[in-house]
Amino acid sequence: MAQDLLKGKKGIIFGALNEMSIAWKVAEQAVAQGAEIVLTNAPIAMRMGTINELAAKCNNCPVIPADATSEEDIQKLFEGAMAHFGGKIDFVLHSIGMSPNVRKGRHYTDLNYKFLQTTLDVSAISLHKALATAKKMDALNDWGSVVALTYVAAQRTFPDYGDMADAKSLLESITRSFGYHYGVSNKVRINTISQSPTITTAGSGVKGFDEFIAYSESMSPLGNADALACADYCITMFSDLTRYVTMQNLFHDGGFSNTGVSMEVISKFAPEEK
Ligand SMILES: NC(=O)c1ccc[n+]([C@@H]2O[C@H](COP(=O)([O-])OP(=O)(O)OC[C@H]3O[C@@H](n4cnc5c(N)ncnc54)[C@H](O)[C@@H]3O)[C@@H](O)[C@H]2O)c1
Repeated sequence: MAQDLLKGKKGIIFGALNEMSIAWKVAEQAVAQGAEIVLTNAPIAMRMGTINELAAKCNNCPVIPADATSEEDIQKLFEGAMAHFGGKIDFVLHSIGMSPNVRKGRHYTDLNYKFLQTTLDVSAISLHKALATAKKMDALNDWGSVVALTYVAAQRTFPDYGDMADAKSLLESITRSFGYHYGVSNKVRINTISQSPTITTAGSGVKGFDEFIAYSESMSPLGNADALACADYCITMFSDLTRYVTMQNLFHDGGFSNTGVSMEVISKFAPEEK
């Protein structure tokens, strides 16, 4: 594989908590493809996770703490990243999700609305805040690329995904709406990648996740896409090879989203032979 798809490019990667995180793999792949990066995560995640180990592996890149719901933190993050790079930024990965309702097992029909605000703010509005801050600061180069990670529950109902489904719908809507404005003004492109269920800290917070991963595997002609494969797709989206792709929700799910039923699943409903 080519080793220079992101040569000369500079990027910010949100959301690497530990080595299971999708963002962790994206950071490693981006550096392997020649990029320079800055890592960021919420201050509390810095203490809980192992992001400094990742930074050491990524040519000792800076780690700048930022709560993605704080405009002030995001501004400081972009300032710090631009000072480090000595110029503007070419790509941003938004790999952030958290729902207090899901964490605390609140049923979708009985949401705590304060928690819902937090779910939406952390998991979706944070993308708007990052984009708005970058635009005001003129922090992204023309033809820059922003990718946010999402899930098919934005389009179809998965009961245990709770209010994260609403957050992902909003995230995808912000992608389209901001993608229009940032495209017209600066040729910046913004897309979401809709990833297969993947075993990570955020993923395993969803009730019945193991059963669901097995179901998804049997409903995907290619099987579930893993975190490394997702990282590879993110790299192509950051590269110049995809420069006219914007405002899209791109499924990276082994074909799950277009499969009505698989033979493997339907065979489970066959009458038992007597
Ligand atoms: N794992 C899956 O099954 C799956 C499937 C599709 C999409 N996704 C999405 O991929 C993205 C990454 O999740 P992951 O599975 O790698 O899990 P993860 O738990 O490793 O990553 C989630 C990240 O969000 C960060 N975060 C939470 N609150 C924050 C805040 N206020 N400010 C800044 N960062 C904050 C966490 O610290 C963590 O690093 C999420 O958007 C998730 O919804 C995951």
